[in-house]
Amino acid sequence: MKIAMIGTGYVGLVSGVCFAEFGFQVTCVDKNPAIIERLQAGEVTIYEPGLDELLTRNARDGRLIFTTELASTVADADVIFIAVGTPSRRGDGEADLQYIYAAADEIAAAMKPGAVIVIKSTVVVGTNADVRAHIAKARPDVPFSMVSNPEFLREGSAVEDFLRPDRVVVGVHDERGSNAMKRVYRPLYLRETPMIVTTLENAEIIKYAANAFLAMKVTFINEVADLCEKTGGNVQDVARAIGMDNRIGSKFLHAGPGFGGSCFPKDTRAYAATGRKMNAPQTLIEQVVMVNEQRKRSMAERVIQAAAKSGAKTVAALGIAFKPNTDDIRESPSLDIIPALQKAGLTVRAHDPEARSAAEPALPGVVWCKSAYEAIEGAEITVLLTEWNAYRALDLKKVASLMKGNLLFDLRNVYGEQDIDGTGLEYHSIGRPRLGQSA
Ligand code: UDX
Repeated sequence: MKIAMIGTGYVGLVSGVCFAEFGFQVTCVDKNPAIIERLQAGEVTIYEPGLDELLTRNARDGRLIFTTELASTVADADVIFIAVGTPSRRGDGEADLQYIYAAADEIAAAMKPGAVIVIKSTVVVGTNADVRAHIAKARPDVPFSMVSNPEFLREGSAVEDFLRPDRVVVGVHDERGSNAMKRVYRPLYLRETPMIVTTLENAEIIKYAANAFLAMKVTFINEVADLCEKTGGNVQDVARAIGMDNRIGSKFLHAGPGFGGSCFPKDTRAYAATGRKMNAPQTLIEQVVMVNEQRKRSMAERVIQAAAKSGAKTVAALGIAFKPNTDDIRESPSLDIIPALQKAGLTVRAHDPEARSAAEPALPGVVWCKSAYEAIEGAEITVLLTEWNAYRALDLKKVASLMKGNLLFDLRNVYGEQDIDGTGLEYHSIGRPRLGQSA
């Protein structure tokens, strides 16, 4: 069984490496020669725990190859995964499918009879059927199968999620497609991972509905946090208690500065756009998109108001990545919050353990620091934006002594009363009572 993986972005690279780990012969293809050269040299192009080791081992053992040659790779492949980007289209928020169709055209020209073509990228409902018709029209002479196989990988634990998923979802239209998927996921199958074999359309809807639901859950708890702040409640206590109801579940109830990343913002917009287009309005998700945008602005506003009140001029920003254990800054709340602080005349000194090189071009005017403590030095306000482990165990007495002021805005609820007591810091978190000095 030979696998071709088209696209070596986040999803393609993790999936390609993991299929090689399952023992298959995998060739990863990308148009960008610079990325392919780095991968050929054994360099991992994204930061993802565990990926480095698997890539090195499988490349060394000859199961994993990187190339820019799509046609020859596809001509030799039994299963061809499409894992190219589907960014938000400017204006209407719909997913831009141009890279999917470009890949489909190239695959159609080169595929061998009986090829199984699998779309892994997140695509709007109807795309798999449409791509199938598109390829069939281009190559009426070559039999092939179409499969929709959405991924549910979380950045920062993508390797673990691939190797130990809650479930695998495959949408198929024929037996050959479903048999091929049973073969490529056999190692998981043996471990009794549930495999949902369904229609192409269901698989597409499942992916969007799953992400939309999770984004809605985060947005819900963020609004509960707002209510807690106004009424003297504590969102962590509330989340813990409601989460114990199995119908609700304890995960994704962590209040914060709003969701970001490469999936939730783009997928909620695309899902809402599909609802509008199909005349099945997804009103809840429309609101989720709006509330989340507003939330990022209101986070910046809190800090700006505190700065105005205290006469602060300098803010230390800890964490740029949209979440820990990734160097990904796509749609990170920090990309809205930091420019808003700068616009209000504040100087921002920033640190992130992994995301600095991605963040530097996106955040002009920021003073970049080599450590959290260096960023904090001389700042009147510190804002904790991403819950990296390195920021969970800061010496808060040292933080207070390095700062010129004493305001700590913890937008991830990392610290508690015992940590703050005796430090001299005035501590503001999300949906919990203010602590410390002037509390
Ligand atoms: C998500 C989905 O989890 C994954 O299944 C899908 O395939 C891709 O999108 P990812 O974007 O890597 O994965 O991040 P995730 O851990 O889901 O977090 C998304 C955002 O929500 C982050 O900004 C995170 O900080 C935020 N979040 C998450 C919260 O604010 N609170 C929570 O309780 C959980």
